[in-house]
Amino acid sequence: VHPIQQAFIDTGSIQCGYCTPAMILATKALIEKEKNPTEAQAREALSAALCRCTGYKKPVEAVLRAAAMMRGEAVPPVNGGGIPFESVFGHGSGSLPDLPESSGGRGDTITKLIAFPVTLISPQPQTEVVGHPEPKVDAVKLAKGRPVFTDDVDLPGMLHAALLTSPHAHARIKNIDAGKARALPGVHAVLTYKDVERVIYASGGQTWPNPPPWDQVSLDSKVRFVGDRVAAVAAESPETAREALELIEVDYEILPAVFDPEAAMRDGAPMIHDEPDAVKIHDAQHNIAITSGAEHGNVEKGLAASDVVIERTYRVHQVQQASIEPHVVVTYWDEDDRLVIRTSTQVPFHVRRMVAPLLGLPVKRIRVIKPRVGGGFGGKQEMLIEDLCAHLTLATGRPVRFEYTRELEFTSARSRHAQKITYRAGVMKDGALHALDMRVVEDTGAYGTHGLTVGTVTGLRGLSTYRCANQRFRLEAVYTNKPVPGAFRGYGAPQALFALESLMEEIAVETGIDPVEFRLKNAIRVGDEVVMSRALGEGKEGYAQYIQSCALPECIEQGGAAIGWDRRADPKWVIDPNRPHVRRGLGMAACMHGTAIAGMDMGAASIKMNDD
Ligand code: FES
Repeated sequence: VHPIQQAFIDTGSIQCGYCTPAMILATKALIEKEKNPTEAQAREALSAALCRCTGYKKPVEAVLRAAAMMRGEAVPPVNGGGIPFESVFGHGSGSLPDLPESSGGRGDTITKLIAFPVTLISPQPQTEVVGHPEPKVDAVKLAKGRPVFTDDVDLPGMLHAALLTSPHAHARIKNIDAGKARALPGVHAVLTYKDVERVIYASGGQTWPNPPPWDQVSLDSKVRFVGDRVAAVAAESPETAREALELIEVDYEILPAVFDPEAAMRDGAPMIHDEPDAVKIHDAQHNIAITSGAEHGNVEKGLAASDVVIERTYRVHQVQQASIEPHVVVTYWDEDDRLVIRTSTQVPFHVRRMVAPLLGLPVKRIRVIKPRVGGGFGGKQEMLIEDLCAHLTLATGRPVRFEYTRELEFTSARSRHAQKITYRAGVMKDGALHALDMRVVEDTGAYGTHGLTVGTVTGLRGLSTYRCANQRFRLEAVYTNKPVPGAFRGYGAPQALFALESLMEEIAVETGIDPVEFRLKNAIRVGDEVVMSRALGEGKEGYAQYIQSCALPECIEQGGAAIGWDRRADPKWVIDPNRPHVRRGLGMAACMHGTAIAGMDMGAASIKMNDD
């Protein structure tokens, strides 16, 4: 292992590892020119390598560490313990922490950067294992750039796929003529809705049966957003495949489109899903894909009995995961006549189950291989492009490779749901929350996929952090002619927590209660029931969940201490005397997230002992 590779491993600079070889080469080029680079030079050198998982703090640390190692200097161990809490923040009585400078001096910059990363604020005793860094088990192969990703294969006879997408937000395909494209030398297949059996499905990577609605088919005669599927091509080269796309003639009947969920629900709005074979759309006429809701206690009575009622609306927008590795899949027949799907997915078993009926193959004739994923963030928690690539292998008998361009990632992959969240909160004079009413209007784009479950998690997370006797949640997931959202880190929680914590802050300010005190007064505690989970627990409704361990009050207290909350009015605390133009802003928010489905999800492990 080269010292640069070792430095990247030691500092924990490798998450998915997709960007790592590029970062290592950039580092090598820098150190060949400059044996003792500054942090600014390290940042500049790495700036050409985009990283979406690790970020740049640790790689910058790795560059400086590698340079020191290559100069023959001893580097301090990366012990993960960092500098103790007190020396960073003091005990609420010191000056501003001595944070690493953002650029400049060589000297002790490396020591600061290496020492700083982890700050333990818990007074727990030291342990042998917990709290200490371990090199990632697969860090060496990633640092060496071994062929671990989906696209790191080149099969004999492999064809290249390309996708024709809709230029219209809403249109019916009156006619489609692929004759010229099929006649292009090097083209082996062109598939349109006329060539693929119509099988209704839902693409979200979820346990069977997929939550409703089921509103998709592999290729349709109607398009519902700019970027929706129109036709797929397999050709000898990517260039020929793209050329063939240009030759496909499509006659569209352009339909009125709607982009705002509330407009989409109104009478007379364009009906996005008018197909008769969609399954379990809540109200197709009004574009409501699905609804959900629950009530604990009596919210209207609770609001009426409250001393203060505050209503606020928060909006969160659509965001794309932008994993550095795009969606990519390779499909081929193996020697046992099984269809192999080598794909960058977070849900290989769901892909196999979901793709089987679309292809007309039994599950046992499909093998899904999930190599290392170059960043997913939820965007690959979907059966997204595997069906089209597999259809092309079925049509040609040849291995086919299909990779989304970055443009397709934005138009035709997945994203985070935009939501409009309205809270009504009832508070008593003593600061106790008495009623919380949460209504979510979620934009699920052109298809339902994860709309129900993401929206439901928004309700769970938005009504679980604080005690409240009367709570209500209502969700409407609404179709629009926009690219389709899906799973994205936090799965509905970030939307909810942004709104909830903004609300908590605004209530505290409006009622004159200290925001930290207000949270502490209402924080959920051990023994409390998470009341919304009984009604909204996915697949396990009626299953009561109680808080069995919880340190939320301690979190709020420690967080407050760490930022010097009780000194927020002290100019010595908020103004750096050496840099008086720099002010410290203090704010408090609590976030929680749970994953897996209590009482339903399960895990298992097998242990095998080898001869040695
Ligand atoms: Fe950099 Fe994943 S570790 S993109």
